[in-house]
Amino acid sequence: MKNILITGGAGYIGSHTAVQLIEAGYNPIIIDDLSNSEEKVLDRLEEITGRKLTFYKGDCSDKSLLEKIASEHEISGVIHFAAFKAVGESTVQPLKYYQNNIGSLLAILDFMKANRIKDLVFSSSCTVYGQPEVLPVTEETPRQDAESPYGNTKKICEDILMDFVKSQAGIRVISLRYFNPVGAHPSGKIGELPIGTPANLVPFVTQTAAGIREKLTVFGDDYDTVDGSCVRDFIHVMDLADAHVKALAYLGEQQVDFYDVFNVGTGNGNTVLEVIRTFEKVNRVKVNFEIGARRPGDIVKIWADTAKINSVFNWHPSYSLEDSLRDSWNWQKTL
Ligand code: NAD
Ligand code: WQD
Repeated sequence: MKNILITGGAGYIGSHTAVQLIEAGYNPIIIDDLSNSEEKVLDRLEEITGRKLTFYKGDCSDKSLLEKIASEHEISGVIHFAAFKAVGESTVQPLKYYQNNIGSLLAILDFMKANRIKDLVFSSSCTVYGQPEVLPVTEETPRQDAESPYGNTKKICEDILMDFVKSQAGIRVISLRYFNPVGAHPSGKIGELPIGTPANLVPFVTQTAAGIREKLTVFGDDYDTVDGSCVRDFIHVMDLADAHVKALAYLGEQQVDFYDVFNVGTGNGNTVLEVIRTFEKVNRVKVNFEIGARRPGDIVKIWADTAKINSVFNWHPSYSLEDSLRDSWNWQKTL
């Protein structure tokens, strides 16, 4: 069984990916410093999968910890999720973001080279596209100057990966550019755990429906879209997790010194108001909301062209927006 090191594997996307990896016959080894997650996620993973998981609590920039892991397990690939992701905080504490997001990638690449580990899947983001002129966005759509230090770390990490592969480091890398991950494991045992007031739409919707937040503010309804609110491509986290499994399999078929990028989205755009209405309809629960001012720096509309991932990985999303919002609510209710 192949051992896959998952940095940030106790987090939202990493935990769901651990489940999918086990189902596909891999053995995930998780390293997480729990800076944005909780140890009980590991117990939940064991409940879902019926398997004991190998977990190392610590910083994935810690070279001695990485060497300890390599001495205890033969690692065949890495999925690097670990990063800070709060866009707003990154504008106030940019160095924290550059340090962790870039520093951890550099440490992982050093570690891979030293231990002759070939395969890496990296968590990138549709944020690298900014506001594209032409929609949907393909992988050829030019990247733009980042709106935030967080976004810039993703762009810089992609550049580092390209340069490292060009240097003939003997590795194979895929950057997955995620659109907007939503939903949770259908069991309701794992999901997104926002700390403090959520900045993202769906956790704010579920917390408002649960009465934790009094009211959701829709940031603007006067944009040039079907109903005036912004458009995003909301992808179920289980489908997103599955894309990582497909990416690993695909890397295994490539020669070394390989780098490529893939969009991971559904290919459909939905507005913020559509999300609220769909949430209310599938869950038969009201969401108290008001229309407010535009949020500075917001992208008006973006959704993915998924032709590349559909054909190259034979990956297709199997969950609808309704499924995503049902699973997000199911998860919220367990919290
Ligand atoms: P998350 O915060 O839930 O998970 C990240 C995990 O990494 C957390 O468990 C955290 O404790 C851990 N971590 C952070 N720095 C670490 C370090 N130095 N060493 C060890 N562990 C560390 O976030 P997520 O939503 O699961 O995102 C995973 C990745 O996907 C991130 O790289 C993020 O930037 C990227 N991404 C997320 C989204 C999104 O909307 N959720 C969209 C695009 C890209
Ligand atoms: C979605 C829509 C808001 C909250 C962020 C990051 C991006 C990427 C994904 C990681 C927008 C609206 C939101 C609220 C609202 N992450 N909204 N009221 O903006 O697509 O992107 O997460 O890489 O880098 O910037 O996601 O969930 O914040 O917002 O009206 O209370 O919901 O204006 O139109 P976004 P989001």
